Amino acid sequence: MIYKAIRARIPLVSVKTPDTIHLRIVLQFYINKVLEEEGVKKRDRPTIGVFNEKEPTKYTFSFAHWDGLKTVSLHSIYESLREESCTVFIINSDDYLKIAFEVGELLPCIDHITQLFGEHVMAEYLPQIIPMAQGLTIKEILDISNIAMAEYKCITPTSFASVKNSCIPPVLGLNYVNPEIPCYTPNPELKAWLEDEGQCIHVEDSLSDLAPRGLLFEGVAGTGKSLGAKYVANELNVPLYNLCVGELLGKYVGESETRLREALMRLDSYAPAVVLIDEVEKLFEDDAGSNTTRSLLALLLWWLQEHSSRVLTIMTTNNSLILPKELYRSGRIDRSIIFEPLNYQEANELLETYRSSFDLPRYYKYDIYKDGDSVTAADVISTGKRLMRLDYLTDRD
Ligand SMILES: Nc1ncnc2c1ncn2[C@@H]1O[C@H](COP(=O)(O)OP(=O)(O)O)[C@@H](O)[C@H]1O
Ligand SMILES: [Mg+2]
Repeated sequence: MIYKAIRARIPLVSVKTPDTIHLRIVLQFYINKVLEEEGVKKRDRPTIGVFNEKEPTKYTFSFAHWDGLKTVSLHSIYESLREESCTVFIINSDDYLKIAFEVGELLPCIDHITQLFGEHVMAEYLPQIIPMAQGLTIKEILDISNIAMAEYKCITPTSFASVKNSCIPPVLGLNYVNPEIPCYTPNPELKAWLEDEGQCIHVEDSLSDLAPRGLLFEGVAGTGKSLGAKYVANELNVPLYNLCVGELLGKYVGESETRLREALMRLDSYAPAVVLIDEVEKLFEDDAGSNTTRSLLALLLWWLQEHSSRVLTIMTTNNSLILPKELYRSGRIDRSIIFEPLNYQEANELLETYRSSFDLPRYYKYDIYKDGDSVTAADVISTGKRLMRLDYLTDRD
């Protein structure tokens, strides 16, 4: 949007940024790119003047009809700017200025980020690191890079991601999930999907239409749906976030919607990433008739359909019957995967896998499930835990 505003020489443009230190170089980068497109030579490109109300004498503007530090109305400034094809950027204005064109948050563009990393990051890492830096300010990128250098001695996708996740202030309702799984036997359908289509989360931006959009995991409690989301993030080597819509609910009108919008914008900037909306049916229970819930859902559905960032949404549900069809229509969800309880052979195998993850001798019989048994993975793990405790105590005696 900022490109469009600069190209069109919109007189007053309002931007927001927490990083006022790098404000000028970020703006200058955008302006230079536009001027380059327009064929303006380097030496003819204007530099940005900064008018700061704390130091009013430092810079003055001069226009044919308006000269510097007089008190003039915004309308007359606007007119003067328009006549001379000039643009003034209003930074972090507290008031909503109706006369200014709002372009939202001022963040460095991809070319700028690439230039910034240029000498400090090995070229082979750039395709993975640049997407992680999108949505960050230059100050945040530099701070994260410096901490990664100090702690890990180099900037790699792993060190950058780990510092980024621990430093960037969290957004309400969006929680980073540690993707470690101790012992896990994957759902075969999910495993197959990941091996072919899933990897498309790493397509380049120009092909982002091919990136997977969403999965719905259905099944009774304890069948490994939430764990499945961790498995996906692990296999795709991307961060996992949990979107808790319940945390977003605010007291005031419109507050919840603003928070959800913020969380979704932040998610877009985390791409490539996986977002988990756990037990999504809860959104459609209890309070589903209220205005707030309805407008949150509308916003969520809109984002699920329209977002162009490479964010894969995983929704889990214990009861798909109460979900509205529009939630999982194609465009929002690529595939629905059923998580079944395990048959007796699978249950015994999982029990054995769990046992072998401990370095303990074995005193009790572990293939305890018999033909016809059907149990959830959660039951198997809790049975395994009980048997391991008994083995541990026997071993000690
Ligand atoms: N495929 C699996 N392999 C190993 N353990 C599993 C598996 N699925 C579930 N579990 C166990 O069951 C517990 C609950 O799983 P979870 O993913 O929370 O189930 P759901 O979300 O379907 O209710 C996990 O903490 C884990 O101990
Ligand atoms: Mg769960």
